[in-house]
Amino acid sequence: MAESITITDNRSGESIEVPIVDGGVSAEEWSKLLPGIWFYDPAFMTTAAAESSITYIDGDAGKLEYRGYPIEQLAEHSSYLEVAYLLLHGELPNAAELEQWTHEITYHTFIHENVRKRFLEGFHYDAHPMGILVSAVAALSTFYPEAKDIFDPEIRYKQIIRLIAKMPTLAAAAHRFSVGMPFVYPDNSLSFAANFLSMMWKTAEPRFDANPALARAVDVLFILHADHEQNCSTTAMRVVGSSHADPYSSCAAAAAALYGPRHGGANEAVIRMLIEIGSMENVPDFIKSVKEGHGRLQGFGHRVYKNYDPRAKIVRNVAYDVFEVTGKNPLLDIALKLEEAALADDYFVSRKLYPNVDFFTGLIYQAMGFPMEMFPVLFAIPRTSGWLAHWVEMLDQETKIARPRQLYTGTARRDYVPLENR
Ligand code: CMC
Repeated sequence: MAESITITDNRSGESIEVPIVDGGVSAEEWSKLLPGIWFYDPAFMTTAAAESSITYIDGDAGKLEYRGYPIEQLAEHSSYLEVAYLLLHGELPNAAELEQWTHEITYHTFIHENVRKRFLEGFHYDAHPMGILVSAVAALSTFYPEAKDIFDPEIRYKQIIRLIAKMPTLAAAAHRFSVGMPFVYPDNSLSFAANFLSMMWKTAEPRFDANPALARAVDVLFILHADHEQNCSTTAMRVVGSSHADPYSSCAAAAAALYGPRHGGANEAVIRMLIEIGSMENVPDFIKSVKEGHGRLQGFGHRVYKNYDPRAKIVRNVAYDVFEVTGKNPLLDIALKLEEAALADDYFVSRKLYPNVDFFTGLIYQAMGFPMEMFPVLFAIPRTSGWLAHWVEMLDQETKIARPRQLYTGTARRDYVPLENR
């Protein structure tokens, strides 16, 4: 028998049976019984805002899959560009498709000289690179006005390529300007991750060859961050995209959502927390203060995962690979002690608080020399492919404009009072 629920409106005694489909109940069915009665769910805690076939998360079991492929297998065997293709097309590319895709992305990495000279150089010397990135992505829409034609398949595809390709260029440029270093042009002979590292760190040498272990570590981190279903920034992408804004404007909105410390800034908070703890001996006192309600254990807990975040397990291993090259981040021992103490403490165990992806990523980025301001930028580069996959899916579903209702709690109608009577 098909699963369903029955709701009764006690005011009228009327009932309606609503089928449970794919783990959800259709709000459209409910509204037939309850017209004008809205569901109050401000942070979408119990609302599925989309039907999606891109990413699957089982938060209780700690599972993450892109298009059905477990994240562990993709992190071990795949590359970021292959994963970006998978997210957007639904299938892994064959050799010819991957070559074509890689070629197209590689040859769209340059940005218009005016973006660099007039726009990026206009920022104040100490501008936050994420602020620069958000604005630069929005500004790209003015360079590609045809992007407004979102239902033309060729135009749409071209903007997808451009956005994925130009994100590392803009990201590295944002960093270079914020530290007063000259812009480095993309090197088309390098892989996606190696090219990004070249644009970040190249100085006087004719060609910058990143350490292969570090380039691979960045690529794996890009795979892990490429998508995470209906997170805050992806929801922003879908909401803004539902107004049929061009993809650059929608991506800028998504990147703005990622700028917030609750989303893209948690790994920075982890580093700041570890610095504040200062040494392993202080870990028990820190745990005690968190349990007493003084702040949170940063990098722990997740809205969806009620188990070890599968990405955190992979990141932990990546950290060791990176530290072999860079030397150990001195904060690692404090982090490991903190993890051990929290996982053995009933406060965290009973609330199902486990390390999330951000617990170790900051340690890696810091060891590689990235300043903390770049952490959300490093997140935005790969998440662009996820945002775009959701944008395409949403447009193909012919989704209506996102427009929630509210429960009005303000003053009842009243008459205007002239200034002299107030
Ligand atoms: N340290 C201490 N206690 C915590 C923590 C934490 N990190 N996270 C949750 N709790 C407690 C919280 O106090 C509450 O306890 P009680 O029931 O006694 O009031 C309970 O656990 C449930 O917390 P919640 O705030 O209702 O959970 P949420 O789903 O709204 O919050 C979260 C999820 C990620 C915002 C939260 O766990 C948190 O603030 N973590 C630290 C920040 C962090 O690491 N953020 C990165 C998330 S992963 C990035 C991504 O995927 O984009």
